[in-house]
Amino acid sequence: KLTERETILTLIDEAMAFYRERLLSGREGQQAMGYLLKRGMTRKTIDDYRLGFAPDGWDHLTRYLHSRKRSPVMAAQAGLIVPRKKGEGYYDRFRNRIVFPIFNAQNQPIGFGGRVMDDALPKYLNSPETPVYNKSRSLYGLNAARPKCRETGTVYVVEGYFDLLSMHQFGIANTVATLGTSLTADHVRILRGFVGEGGKAVLVYDSDQAGIKAAQRSVAVFQKGDLEARILVLPEGHDPDSFLMEQGPDDFMKAANSAMAMFSFMAESAVDRYGLSVEGKVRIVNDLRPAIAAIGDPVARSLRIKHLAERIGVEESIVLDKIRRWKPAPAR
Ligand code: CTP
Ligand code: MN
Ligand code: MN
Ligand code: MN
Ligand code: MN
Repeated sequence: KLTERETILTLIDEAMAFYRERLLSGREGQQAMGYLLKRGMTRKTIDDYRLGFAPDGWDHLTRYLHSRKRSPVMAAQAGLIVPRKKGEGYYDRFRNRIVFPIFNAQNQPIGFGGRVMDDALPKYLNSPETPVYNKSRSLYGLNAARPKCRETGTVYVVEGYFDLLSMHQFGIANTVATLGTSLTADHVRILRGFVGEGGKAVLVYDSDQAGIKAAQRSVAVFQKGDLEARILVLPEGHDPDSFLMEQGPDDFMKAANSAMAMFSFMAESAVDRYGLSVEGKVRIVNDLRPAIAAIGDPVARSLRIKHLAERIGVEESIVLDKIRRWKPAPAR
């Protein structure tokens, strides 16, 4: 007798096989395949990452699972089908979408993301949290990324499915994706284990409002998790996928090698936000105090202070004094 967890994992595995079969056969599947090829995905990427296609219609997967005598209650718990609001029965969660299976560390599929192939909204639909899928602990591309993270001591963190697939396809396989959720302490713990002692993360978020915001929020999470992080800011409007497809991996690596340290990124963000008026400078220093105070190494801390003072044109001793006087708010 299978446990609830095992039953759910089996159902998700069956759904993955169903979606794959639908991508690889039939006229609809051909269209979906055409979409993936047009996006620059190779047949090898499509196979290696087990991409699939959820056919158009309300109950293809629902009927398939029914025909195999699977419990619809469990399939709903797995996030694959949804109980109808009115009346009885269930309908497919993913319809007429490219599906991207998300794997756990044991390489079992635990959920899916689904993308429309046109401008319909929502662009992406994701599995809900289930007994086997915890978003704050899952990362897309985890298993494929692990060996190269070990090898290089570096992990790239991107936002999206296509970002991850393009990075891996261009040989930058030490990349994971957070899939639009904000980075958590659990994510950082996992990544720190991947890159090992002295390793680092390079955040490559979309160069748009949302991406910059997300990067700023991630700073504190990396600091608390004690993992060195840098930020690669791509030309405005680009994400890693669009940048790689347009410019190629050499330009990407060139940019990556000049990725900004977290603190410089925060300092630049603060300068952008407040400007270099007198009031602006006061706010910049106030804003950065907690980040400076959190730098454990005294040499690193003193260098940051020096750079900040120079950047905004304020006496170093004054910045230093302000930081000395600052006491962190008591932990709640
Ligand atoms: N996302 C989501 N739901 C949405 C939009 C985005 O879950 N409605 C997640 C997806 O994981 C997506 C990531 O956030 O991959 C980044 O979003 P976005 O930049 O909008 O999409 P892209 O990954 O760039 O997708 P594409 O290149 O196909 O447009
Ligand atoms: Mn975006
Ligand atoms: Mn976008
Ligand atoms: Mn994007
Ligand atoms: Mn994109």
